[in-house]
Amino acid sequence: MTRPEFKGMIDIHTHILPSLDDGARSWEEAVAMARGAAKDGIEAVVATPHIYEATSITPQETCEKTLQFQTLLDGEGIKLRVLPGAEVHLAIDLPDRLREGRLQTLADSGRYLLVEFPFGLLPLYTDEVLFELQAGGVIPIIAHPERNESVQKDPNRLYNMIQKGMLAQLTGGSLRGNFGSRVEYTAKLLLKHNLVQILASDGHRADRRRVLLGKASGSVADLAGLEAARELAILNPRRITQGIVFDAKESKKISGLSGLIHTMTFRALQ
Ligand SMILES: [Fe+2]
Repeated sequence: MTRPEFKGMIDIHTHILPSLDDGARSWEEAVAMARGAAKDGIEAVVATPHIYEATSITPQETCEKTLQFQTLLDGEGIKLRVLPGAEVHLAIDLPDRLREGRLQTLADSGRYLLVEFPFGLLPLYTDEVLFELQAGGVIPIIAHPERNESVQKDPNRLYNMIQKGMLAQLTGGSLRGNFGSRVEYTAKLLLKHNLVQILASDGHRADRRRVLLGKASGSVADLAGLEAARELAILNPRRITQGIVFDAKESKKISGLSGLIHTMTFRALQ
């Protein structure tokens, strides 16, 4: 059951718009996902289709489809706001595409860009591309860093990015072992060191990987406290959808004994 404290959650990472990527497969499925989200205490979602280098999805198309979906939800009486966004795969030409207006920012605020890392090792150009995006006026939000191999092996890669003013989004399912023990372990480690500022579902379907945040918020509350859960699931996502720049809670570097424990624990996990 959703705890009353978690009313008004905002999910900034969902694949709820149908037939754009590997998310919802039909309008019916998208509506079912929205109904589940509203029931879970989610007030708004950002639709973030996968954007790869060769993609043909334009910001205009995402905005139009978002409006179409909102009209459908309003007609069905489902109380959920849908905002346009994108999950942009890391690529060397991202700064060029940003300059050309080809990248959809979260909630169309022009401020926050959700960036997805590859699941393997980070490419050599990573820091340069992220820096150039910042120089171009957007704040990169790293999508589910706990699922990236470079971050898993050296979480301070993420610490350095957060120190430079970027943010990171934790996926709820990672905390509950849905992506394996290494991802779960890394997710909890990042959370405990304030290296993630947003909780999102990364919901893809109506039957599994759903657009839900209630249980995951409860897990965050158990691991990091109720205040942290409210920050990650309600307050920070709201600031992001409003395009407001904010100071995140100070992150902690993983060093000394905790760094050693991390290396040993991580190696022991499969
Ligand atoms: Fe995603």
